[in-house]
Amino acid sequence: METRRLKVGLLGAGRIGKVHGNHVARFIPEAELVWVVDVDEAAARALAAQCGVAKVGTDPGAVLADPEVDAVLICTSTDTHARLIEEAAAAGKHIFCEKPIAHDLESIDRALAAVEKAGVALQIGFNRRFDANFSRVRRAIASGEIAAPRLMHIVSRDPGPPPIEYVRRSGGIFFDMTIHDFDMARYLMGCEVEEVFAYGAVRVDPAIGEAGDLDTALIVLKFANGAIGTIDNCREAVYGYDQRVEVLGSNGAISVENNYPNTATISNGKTIHRDLPLNFFMDRYTESFRVELESFVRAVLSGTPPEVTGHDGRMAVVVGMAAKQSVAEGKSVKIDSGF
Ligand SMILES: NC(=O)c1ccc[n+]([C@@H]2O[C@H](COP(=O)([O-])OP(=O)(O)OC[C@H]3O[C@@H](n4cnc5c(N)ncnc54)[C@H](O)[C@@H]3O)[C@@H](O)[C@H]2O)c1
Repeated sequence: METRRLKVGLLGAGRIGKVHGNHVARFIPEAELVWVVDVDEAAARALAAQCGVAKVGTDPGAVLADPEVDAVLICTSTDTHARLIEEAAAAGKHIFCEKPIAHDLESIDRALAAVEKAGVALQIGFNRRFDANFSRVRRAIASGEIAAPRLMHIVSRDPGPPPIEYVRRSGGIFFDMTIHDFDMARYLMGCEVEEVFAYGAVRVDPAIGEAGDLDTALIVLKFANGAIGTIDNCREAVYGYDQRVEVLGSNGAISVENNYPNTATISNGKTIHRDLPLNFFMDRYTESFRVELESFVRAVLSGTPPEVTGHDGRMAVVVGMAAKQSVAEGKSVKIDSGF
């Protein structure tokens, strides 16, 4: 019996588009990559050739008008996401969209309304939920293994800052970097964030401050289940990508450490040391990028709701807005119906 394969069009052949395009083309037998589009035609052609895809172009509209296409992966720059979600939904295509949906709630709400009206599936690219370590932490909380959560700590530090040009267009640290941690916090706790107090600083590069952004932040979160937590961010940690979590519950704690390229330790007369953690998200989260797309494909083919919803995409932005407001006002911000 022939099983149906999901026909997928990729919009955006940049850094993350290449990761997703290659995963669909090589590692997800239930899906077939049938289109690659990028406004940069050379980028689209190069990725299409790499993935053996015949349909290539510069216009997302051509993908949306193609009846062969069941679903699109929106991997274009953030400022295009909300509009492309609206257009894809109107064309009846299922949608996987990279984070964040947008930086403002008006655009997000319009996009989510279009998805609702069309009845298509929408999954947001919070890939860290599909990381084996972090999903184990979620299981420990959801199953009651550590009983009632009390404290949560997320450490999320990049190995080095992005170029200033990127910082200027990123929407700021809370929407570009911490957005993953805001989602992780909600995912691990299984409830909403009710209050946010954020401190921000420029400690890595004054040019980041001159571009209007922060490079170092500490955020305190109060959750609807009564637990409290922190997120600790820095754009530079000289020892590499630092991605750790700890949760204390009434019946114990669970923590996950960094992932390393190997488990070797080197001992000599002065020190015992090991190699640095896996460097940055392409290496550290490779597996999670593949698993999140498998989850999307499975959800669409089986008609079940995606594991990361449009609401999740919206709420991470809401918490980011509260953090930004908290830094500006120097006081805690409650997340209520005003958001
Ligand atoms: N989940 C993650 O860990 C993760 C990691 C990296 C990037 N991202 C997100 O993915 C998105 C893309 O980031 P990136 O680092 O790949 O950026 P990028 O600049 O490398 O790639 C974006 C690509 O989209 C193309 N593009 C822009 N507008 C377009 C349009 N209207 N139609 C077709 N193509 C268009 C650009 O030419 C470019 O090739 C961002 O929203 C970013 O936040 C997520």
